[in-house]
Amino acid sequence: MSDGNMQSATTKVGENLLDVIVDNDIDIEGFGACEGTLACSTCHLIFTKEDYDKIEDKPTDEELDMLDLAYGLTETSRLGCQVIVTKEMDGLVVKVPSFVADARNPS
Ligand code: FES
Repeated sequence: MSDGNMQSATTKVGENLLDVIVDNDIDIEGFGACEGTLACSTCHLIFTKEDYDKIEDKPTDEELDMLDLAYGLTETSRLGCQVIVTKEMDGLVVKVPSFVADARNPS
């Protein structure tokens, strides 16, 4: 993904996108470093506007704070570990930023 390749993944409703990536053995260096505890921002994903609007849960203040530290933030960015898969999200395409920033190790 981060090198421009497309990878597909299967998932179940109710999983978060970090689990989806881990369960499908999609190897993205440094991704999900804090294992979904909202402490790193390495699970930053960029959605299309259409898909972004389909995400049921809006970001919490904690997620927005962490997103601020993510590299290449866009208006349709979310943290993958905070996004729960719903039926409406079938066919979702997400982009992984080309650089992963770990907020725990600012460089
Ligand atoms: Fe660290 Fe999502 S995995 S914030």
